[in-house]
Amino acid sequence: MLESLLKEKRLILVCGSGGVGKTTMAAALALKGAALGLKTIVLTIDPAKRLATSLGLDRLSDEPKRINAKKLADLFGTPDPACFAMMLDTKHTFDQLVAKYAPSKEIEQKILNNKIYRHLSDMIAGSQEYMAMEKLYELATEEKYDLIVIDTPPTTHAIDFLEAPQKMIDAIGHSMIHLLLKPAMLAGKSGLKLFEKGSQMILKIFDRITGFAFLQDISEMLISFQELLGGFQGRAEDVRKILTQDETGFVLVSACEEKSVREAQFFSERLAALGLPLSGVILNRVHPLYRIASDDREENQRELAARVGTKLTAKMADCFDRFEPIARRDDNYRKELKHDLTEKQFLTIIPLFESDIHSLEGLFSLTEYF
Ligand SMILES: Nc1ncnc2c1ncn2[C@@H]1O[C@H](COP(=O)(O)OP(=O)(O)O)[C@@H](O)[C@H]1O
Ligand SMILES: [Mg+2]
Repeated sequence: MLESLLKEKRLILVCGSGGVGKTTMAAALALKGAALGLKTIVLTIDPAKRLATSLGLDRLSDEPKRINAKKLADLFGTPDPACFAMMLDTKHTFDQLVAKYAPSKEIEQKILNNKIYRHLSDMIAGSQEYMAMEKLYELATEEKYDLIVIDTPPTTHAIDFLEAPQKMIDAIGHSMIHLLLKPAMLAGKSGLKLFEKGSQMILKIFDRITGFAFLQDISEMLISFQELLGGFQGRAEDVRKILTQDETGFVLVSACEEKSVREAQFFSERLAALGLPLSGVILNRVHPLYRIASDDREENQRELAARVGTKLTAKMADCFDRFEPIARRDDNYRKELKHDLTEKQFLTIIPLFESDIHSLEGLFSLTEYF
């Protein structure tokens, strides 16, 4: 099922609460996509250092890096798989945005050097959710890749990510900076007499505190930043369109824990309410449930005792009995999640690995469950 998803979709967003395995699954999905012959890119957010190294992302950069093709070809047995990985670098992303949308080099420099821009950009760049959306937009519109896999930031609620563009617009819209910017802009165009009374007061106070520089910074900033603010709104709408396309799919990752299963259920309801397509769920770190009928059990124990002795057999039986309730609990999570899904939505089970998954080999062995 996951394989057909990779073939059908162009954009896959991997969501779920913190620590459930989103980054790992996003990387594994991208590798699998590449193994299927697709030119693939994965945008990772805060990957574990060893995983970043495995993906070739050891130097901090948000430029796409190609994952060692020879190594991948050896692992997958496919010729020349093209898989790229990149990491989200929030501050750099924002500066790039300015460079891209500023009408001229001069204005770009003016903005980047402007004190208010620096304040504003720190505020915006602080929002990984927002920046991930900007990168998503960039990747989805540049048409360089057959498949784009987006890892999502570790927000408290997975859904925060989707609402990031609107929140950012609201934050800018309501911030005092905006309040000040509007009249400053008018002033820049038609002189101070057009200042609204309230804003004029605020500006005067700021002026007294900070000196003339502040006022000048603002009007300069506003005039050059105007187009960017408009662009924010426009892009948020475009992102929303991209997210609702048929070519886009959401994959929800849940760990076998009460909190993350509930979060996954909540998230899937919210997706439906927002009209966004949930393709399926990956239940991660599952303890396998071994079903052994009680008569088999006795026979198994006799057989085992003949080989390893009764003492070790008793220890193993004890271990099995302790393990079973955990496996049963995981199986109940599986049933619960399955119950909420439609026929078309997949539920993929990934077992708990013996150790963390930080290498290409580890990711590869994970893809065998897809
Ligand atoms: N099935 C699994 N078995 C064992 N370790 C896992 C499994 N899935 C993920 N991990 C490990 O759990 C840790 C958290 O995974 P990560 O993908 O970084 O989560 P997230 O991105 O959701 O915060 C990583 O060290 C990863 O290697
Ligand atoms: Mg992560």
